[in-house]
Amino acid sequence: MKTFEIHGDTGSSVIRVGETLECLDKYIPPGNVVIITDINVKNFYEHKFPPHPVITIETGEKIKTLHSVEYICEELVALGADRSTFIIGIGGGIVCDITGFVASTYLRGLPFGFVSSTLLSQVDASVGGKNGVNFKGYKNMIGVFSQPQFVICDLNLLKTLQKKEVLCGLAEIVKHAAIGDADLFRYLEEQYQKALDLDMSVVGKLVYESIVIKSGIVNRDELEKGERRKLNFGHTFGHAIEKTTGVPHGEAVSAGMVIASALSVKRGFLPANDAERIKNLLRNLGLPTRIKGDRKMVLDALKKDKKRQGDRIYFVWLNEIGTAFVDRVPMGELEAVVEEHIDPL
Ligand SMILES: NC(=O)c1ccc[n+]([C@@H]2O[C@H](COP(=O)([O-])OP(=O)(O)OC[C@H]3O[C@@H](n4cnc5c(N)ncnc54)[C@H](O)[C@@H]3O)[C@@H](O)[C@H]2O)c1
Repeated sequence: MKTFEIHGDTGSSVIRVGETLECLDKYIPPGNVVIITDINVKNFYEHKFPPHPVITIETGEKIKTLHSVEYICEELVALGADRSTFIIGIGGGIVCDITGFVASTYLRGLPFGFVSSTLLSQVDASVGGKNGVNFKGYKNMIGVFSQPQFVICDLNLLKTLQKKEVLCGLAEIVKHAAIGDADLFRYLEEQYQKALDLDMSVVGKLVYESIVIKSGIVNRDELEKGERRKLNFGHTFGHAIEKTTGVPHGEAVSAGMVIASALSVKRGFLPANDAERIKNLLRNLGLPTRIKGDRKMVLDALKKDKKRQGDRIYFVWLNEIGTAFVDRVPMGELEAVVEEHIDPL
């Protein structure tokens, strides 16, 4: 097992990569405990949960709403949860995001921890203290920064993931390598097939190195005033594509990274060969490098991006594989790119 620490203004978090769900009880403080999970994770793993009350939610982005928050709070009241209660989310990014939000707001905040059960949540969603829900169709519109006391990344849980969920996690790992670690990028280029086959020694290294990159950035900029924005590489277009085409997050981010790389080449920041390597790696992983969509809808979604300020938007650029920076880009420049990179329906 490897551990990392995040120390921020909103709390401290210990991330344990390679720890198992069976050992969860070791990390729970004495007192009342409530577990929050989703129906799939419960069906697969309830037999491994420690013996505490379980609140179960449905699955999918559509349930990441204040309505689910209300439901969980009602259940917490019914269970008599008080300020001494410890909350644990066992699941993927959706369970972790909702659990963190509920725990941070119920009774003005209860301590909480996560057992992260998808590749995406292990390398990304459960690390960094962003918790929240969607609102009126806008992703993560309502939320808080608040660190879980611990995150357990049990690699064994990944074996029951559907392939498309593995791909979502791999897209975020490519993102981390592209913005922060050229060696990790080379490793992915060499080992992509083993990553796809969930070879545990390869996946363990990818999860570990990804968390090194993300936790390092979060430690330097917990509240996303500057450097943390780098973690949005590929996500400006990715979110707009996801929202308007309905393709899975990982696929949308994959196409978004190709577009962001192309823009970086166009501006003269990134060598064309590096952009080609990014495209090839994504292609080898079976992720899309171009997407079909309604260009006008994609543009409208870009205009509503949370990172937009006036007619400019914060955008993540690459200098080379492993080095990124953030700067604002005029919306007009993005419009031209939509024409080039989104295929008409
Ligand atoms: N807070 C952050 O910093 C952050 C960062 C990135 C993404 N996110 C959020 O994460 C969410 C996506 O997370 P996700 O990709 O983990 O999706 P998810 O939580 O929906 O999980 C994907 C699917 O896998 C199932 N599942 C979970 N663990 C399983 C397991 N071990 N075996 C079999 N099935 C399992 C779930 O039930 C679900 O159907 C999005 O809402 C996104 O906004 C948050």
